[in-house]
Amino acid sequence: MGKYTISQTDFLEGEVLIGGSKNATLPILAASLLCPDKITLKNVPNLVDVSNMCNIISHLGGKYNFEAADELCISLPEITEHKAPYESVSKLRASFLIMSPVLVRYGKVRIPLPGGCPIGTRPIDLHLKGFSAMGAKIKQGHGYIEAKCPKLHGANIYLDFPSVGATENLIIAASMAEGETIIENCATEPEIVDLANFLNKMGARIQNAGSDKIKIVGVDKLHACSYSIIPDRIEAGTFLTAGIMCESDITLKNIIPDHIRPIMAKYSEIGADIKEGDNYIRIKGKCKGINTDIMTMPHPGFPTDMQAIATALLCTTSGRSLIVETVFDNRFLHIPELNRMGANIKVDGRTAIIDGAKLTGAKVKATDLRAGAALVLAGLVAKGKTEVENIELIQRGYENFDEKLRKIGASIKTTL
Ligand code: EPZ
Repeated sequence: MGKYTISQTDFLEGEVLIGGSKNATLPILAASLLCPDKITLKNVPNLVDVSNMCNIISHLGGKYNFEAADELCISLPEITEHKAPYESVSKLRASFLIMSPVLVRYGKVRIPLPGGCPIGTRPIDLHLKGFSAMGAKIKQGHGYIEAKCPKLHGANIYLDFPSVGATENLIIAASMAEGETIIENCATEPEIVDLANFLNKMGARIQNAGSDKIKIVGVDKLHACSYSIIPDRIEAGTFLTAGIMCESDITLKNIIPDHIRPIMAKYSEIGADIKEGDNYIRIKGKCKGINTDIMTMPHPGFPTDMQAIATALLCTTSGRSLIVETVFDNRFLHIPELNRMGANIKVDGRTAIIDGAKLTGAKVKATDLRAGAALVLAGLVAKGKTEVENIELIQRGYENFDEKLRKIGASIKTTL
């Protein structure tokens, strides 16, 4: 497994171009399979997770190719296979999202249960409850889900939890179901809105995406379109955090400030100086290091994907901060690694108690992509050298992470 070697970096300066959203691209790739015609997606990040999803699409009988660096064309004229391959699904949890388009177009689907992952058990009960409500007959066994239904029908679905993936799977399924579907207590993340905008551009009839009650009126056919993916708000939040952990003057370009409002609001509490433009933000100076408390919540609360990264920041502030992780049941694996770097963090259930400390470079391991990014940022401020191993996990969600950091002055070396 590869590693990054990071040395303490005094000053970050320059511009970072934020790429397309991984977590918008993956559901939109799944939704594109509803249409037999060629779909063109722009601002697509070049990530391992995106390639894995494309491999699954070709397994189903689809074709894909990158026409330009960030322009991906997808077409699935006919589904020739309704069984998703175990290896791909076990590597990419989001591939469970192909359940909806295959069920809609083929009338049946056989898909491995997505495995757990470092951040939690991640069940799929809410997805299955919604598919059953729409008429699917579902069987589970031998690590697989089998669902059958010649034609899904609309339903009123109330999600016990505003699951992003369940909301996405059910919006895709309802887009071509018979009649009207209402999904209540659904996720409201920007990626949900992007998915709905994409589907509507293909001719779907989805209303109120972004609210906690979405209405979908099924249609018989969707048509080709070209669509540009929203910028990645978590990549933006990651570089924003780097900019306030170090002394810096950096500008993040190609972002949607509203999508990172929860992060900017919280960071302003600790004294960060963030200037906002239409599609950029500029971070100057260094945060004053005032401690604060964070509770991760579904959107528009502070995003769980920023929890590990914000923890790295709070390690460097003065006083005591608390972070409560309310979304996942095991998303503190970065904490023992940060403590190896001299951080002073205790965990009590879902609460991390962080006392400010001076970090020192150490050998640490990425346990998932956001934890890995957090360790890299900690390495920027730690005294001496930090080696972050398992960087393949980071590269799943961050395109050219090392190059973008190097371009603004970070001392980071990559060994593959
Ligand atoms: C999406 O995962 C994101 N992944 C995650 O980002 C993100 O952390 C998460 O949403 C929350 O925002 C993609 O979009 C590809 P959930 P997802 O279903 O859809 C429970 C990253 O770092 N739940 O909203 O899997 C579940 O156990 C990744 O980019 C059920 O109980 O998240 C969890 O505790 C990590 N039953 C909570 O909901 C279900 O049927 C949130 O899960 C589904 C979920």
